[in-house]
Amino acid sequence: MEITNVTEYEAIAKEKLPKMVYDYYASGAEDQWTLKENRNAFSRILFRPRILIDVSKIDMTTTVLGFKISMPIMIAPTAMQKMAHPEGEYATARAASAAGTIMTLSSWATSSVEEVASTGPGIRFFQLYVCKDRNVVAQLVRRAERAGFKAIALTVDAPRLGRREADIKNRFTLPPFLTLKNFEGLDLGKMDKTDDSGLASYVAGQIDRSLSWKDVKWLQTITSLPILVKGVLTAEDTRLAIQAGAAGIIVSNHGARQLDYVPATIMALEEVVKAAQGRVPVFLDGGVRRGTDVFKALALGASGIFVSIYI
Ligand code: LAC
Repeated sequence: MEITNVTEYEAIAKEKLPKMVYDYYASGAEDQWTLKENRNAFSRILFRPRILIDVSKIDMTTTVLGFKISMPIMIAPTAMQKMAHPEGEYATARAASAAGTIMTLSSWATSSVEEVASTGPGIRFFQLYVCKDRNVVAQLVRRAERAGFKAIALTVDAPRLGRREADIKNRFTLPPFLTLKNFEGLDLGKMDKTDDSGLASYVAGQIDRSLSWKDVKWLQTITSLPILVKGVLTAEDTRLAIQAGAAGIIVSNHGARQLDYVPATIMALEEVVKAAQGRVPVFLDGGVRRGTDVFKALALGASGIFVSIYI
């Protein structure tokens, strides 16, 4: 079958992947209202096209945090990519680099920061989960710096894991032949099978639920990398993120996998852009499937978007 758009991968993934893996990538939280809304909201936005403008020369290049990329489309962090294919994050890293854009590696990747760096040159950001043991966090950030990562995308919307009912039913866990490679050798490297979602228990055990704005400042004391605050949906939090020293904002609802019944990211974008007042760039992820979606986000003030392998 000839694939003509990204959405078509969804049916292929469903056919090829084990149910537990497909459901993990595909699910949102609870009623999955926000999951559907992330897509539906894009479809409610229409263009007001102007005509007879010279478009014979198009330049899609842009600059993100000082790095020139081929287009305003970057790769969002998604965990555990080797569940989908043995090449996992390596393939994503090579593809992003071949496309001339930025890849964001998840803290909970099945390839380490060093392994991803060894795939070849490329501009890479590191997504950070702050776990309870701050020494582990500091070490990981240092490793990301040494491996040449250029920014930290700090996830701020997951003090506990969203209730993903398919994962509970499937007793989701990381397959035993895989490791969360950034934590290899530590307790955090493995995920136990539990009688609900193994990931939810993992998050409950490891993630620092006390994380607050002061920790964005703390992070700046351990790294000079720019920090993108990922998971902002309101003007209030935009202002607080800028006050706390964020170099940029990612409007994200975590692929609708965390709190259900929050707005689609494309609906929250304008509010955040207005509050940012051009002081820092605003990016978006969630529900982006097509060039027209990207264009809608740019038209509403985003400096770029992130796409993910989650559905
Ligand atoms: C998720 C976490 C790992 O959404 O970010 O599954």
